[in-house]
Amino acid sequence: MYRTHTCGELRLPDAGKTVTLAGWVQRTRDLGGMTFVDLRDRFGITQLSFNTERDKALCDQANALGREFVIQATGSVKERESKNKNIPTGEVELIVSELKVLNRAKTPPFTIEEETDGGDELRMKYRYLDLRRANVRRNMELRHRMAIEVRNHLSAQQFLEVETPVLIKSTPEGARDFVVPSRMNQGEFYALPQSPQTFKQLLMVAGMDRYFQIVKCFRDEDLRADRQPEFTQIDCEMAFVEREDILNTFEGLAKHLFKAILGKDMSEPFLRMPYAEAMRDYGCDKPDLRFGMKFHDLGDLAKGKDFKVFDDAELVVGINAEGCAGWSRRQTDALIDFVKRPQIGATGIIFVRWTAEGLKSTVDKFYGPEDLKRWGERFGMKEGDLLCIMAGPAEKTRKQLNELRLHLGETLGLRDPSVFKPLWVVDFPLLEKDEESGRWHAMHHPFTAPIPEHAHLLESDPGSVLANAYDLVINGSEIGGGSIRIHDRSMQEAMFRVLGFTDEDARYKFGFLLDAFEFGAPPHGGAAFGFDRWVSLFGGRSDIREFIAFPKNNAGRDVMIDAPSRIDEVQLNELGIERR
Ligand code: AMO
Repeated sequence: MYRTHTCGELRLPDAGKTVTLAGWVQRTRDLGGMTFVDLRDRFGITQLSFNTERDKALCDQANALGREFVIQATGSVKERESKNKNIPTGEVELIVSELKVLNRAKTPPFTIEEETDGGDELRMKYRYLDLRRANVRRNMELRHRMAIEVRNHLSAQQFLEVETPVLIKSTPEGARDFVVPSRMNQGEFYALPQSPQTFKQLLMVAGMDRYFQIVKCFRDEDLRADRQPEFTQIDCEMAFVEREDILNTFEGLAKHLFKAILGKDMSEPFLRMPYAEAMRDYGCDKPDLRFGMKFHDLGDLAKGKDFKVFDDAELVVGINAEGCAGWSRRQTDALIDFVKRPQIGATGIIFVRWTAEGLKSTVDKFYGPEDLKRWGERFGMKEGDLLCIMAGPAEKTRKQLNELRLHLGETLGLRDPSVFKPLWVVDFPLLEKDEESGRWHAMHHPFTAPIPEHAHLLESDPGSVLANAYDLVINGSEIGGGSIRIHDRSMQEAMFRVLGFTDEDARYKFGFLLDAFEFGAPPHGGAAFGFDRWVSLFGGRSDIREFIAFPKNNAGRDVMIDAPSRIDEVQLNELGIERR
């Protein structure tokens, strides 16, 4: 037997017991005559104690231990003289009588402490060492607890977990597919699922009624802090439902997780906000509602006063940074530099300050105190506030002001990770036009149904059609999304036509689904939630990699196993693929 207890288990009542522990050496402290070793495993840290007077050889052995050596120690549990209140085992120590090195360790490339000196790349290369750090381990534990809660909750609601295949045909979710060559069918490829979308719909046709799966999805797209090429969804589908049923069901799941994981009662119904309102008031479809700073249009008040920048702009729009009137020139210049960065690409910001001396703007030449007063009224401005105004083409300017709003929110400490503001964004447009090709694209995916009132406009006026789709947004992050689906062959065919598919194309790619719709497809709908994002939101960090055991870096590489990598000639030949 390697151990009788874990390193997180012993307490004062265990004093006097003879026990054996096994784990990793976190730290050795040689105090001359006394040596202490912190022994660590997944469950905690226990202090081992050695004394030259008691056993010099054993003490020397302890002093020779290196960091991260794997050892086994037997001894008796004793109450500690100087207790460590910071750890649960801090009242006891082990008086070691027997010490065995189970395996030696090279000095780790970074310190295995919560605050490590290892940079990102190094931590990822030695991720198995990084995972030994308590904070990273806690992230894995959080992920595990959330997965269990999701399974239990959905199972109790009659959802059935069904596994869908990974080697499939392309499912469009707006990214590129990862493809896998087929040896047995040379020249043909599987695609890895961007989501199990079509399968879960087929499961509804199959009468499964309520399906869920915690499932890997694969998307070949540009990576960011909240995007990985392989990530996990809580994927769900329900039959015989309308939008309201789905929102209620998954609001229930969200509230359950808030309570079970964070101990938070989210008794209020989640806010619902139409897409058009989100774009108008926040310049984005996933507003962070932890703070205000709503957009207000100033076009009617600001135009026609000979200020060319505003006169020529399609949109003049601003936000009120409360309490920032006293910001120095350097601080406001920094805001201008922020929006001028190429990633944002704005030309500048016009400021209006309300200080004890009254209202003052950076465009005083064009606007008198009366003008500024009217502007201020629109924002509910008070003394001490600072208006930030931007102007330009409508869509672009809204996006830029959204960036500024989020940046100000961050700077002013208004994006507290322990505060949660969930909302459903609803009534998305069904389609968006690609300006270059002039083609319509499904905003969600091609299986999303129009809202019933707009179904008849699908082919005659596609741009005006709203989708029966919804996103769950929490603190500015898109946690999930879904829709009521088309379940009628002719409407699905019409949708493909609007998207520019020929009938032949549609049949080749989605014939199986169109066929299935002819065998009694029930009305259905569903949603999928980004599990990695949800865990990281609850973990209070924005980088989802911290919550994925073995993530990829920003270039899509796994630097630990060094993948992707070349494959040898034999393998290529078998697949019928020639090296370029
Ligand atoms: P969607 O494409 O919106 O919908 O994906 C659902 C949720 O998955 C998360 N997500 C990601 N997380 C990490 N890395 C990524 N690359 C990534 N891409 C998406 C987001 C997102 O909200 N089949 C539909 C769902 C449905 O209609 O039921 C779908 O996949 O949190």
